[in-house]
Amino acid sequence: MDLPFAEDALEPVISRETIQYHYGKHHKGYVDNTNALIKGTELDDEVPLVDIVKNSDGVLFNNAAQAYNHNFYWMCLTPDPMPPSPKMVELIERDFGSFESFKEQFLNAAATLFGSGWAWLELDVNEKLVITQRSNGDTPIIYHHTPLLTMDVWEHAYYIDYRNDRKKYLESLWELIDWKFVASNIIEYYHDLTEPCRENSELCDYIEMLQHENEVTT
Ligand SMILES: [Fe+2]
Repeated sequence: MDLPFAEDALEPVISRETIQYHYGKHHKGYVDNTNALIKGTELDDEVPLVDIVKNSDGVLFNNAAQAYNHNFYWMCLTPDPMPPSPKMVELIERDFGSFESFKEQFLNAAATLFGSGWAWLELDVNEKLVITQRSNGDTPIIYHHTPLLTMDVWEHAYYIDYRNDRKKYLESLWELIDWKFVASNIIEYYHDLTEPCRENSELCDYIEMLQHENEVTT
């Protein structure tokens, strides 16, 4: 994928140098490895990355999932952040009590994940928001969960700018979240849920409201 912003657009939170290594070397490496591994197989026929992730294991899964997770991570960030919409806040308050409590729980999950991996906000199969710690290339889409937000806590994401201070990186990154992208994922992925948009379900109502908000703001 192309980055949705310039290499220096996230400074000073994320430096151009970090982007050049993280996007230009690490992320590109996962993409190149995936392309090399599927070459000549049935997956080498314009199969969407999501389907490669869902239908692979071992080294191909690790690389394809990391390619997918990084695509998602960059989309979660913006140099022009806006606060979450009232409906998004309402959904978060429903499942975490308050927005502040959600922020604390999410950042704590990301800060305390042992080793390399990702913190996620997901919608589970019961249409409930959950925060998860996922190691290495693990990703919510293989559990029929809807991914909404992620933060990369592999050291390569922050070591140039923050050295070993993962907590400071996460608190800074929080200010760059693209909440419009987060909300858009509910619309994008809800059909992947086990029981997609049950008639009269609360999630269906939210999707309708989010779609309406999208139409109003675009
Ligand atoms: Fe990364």
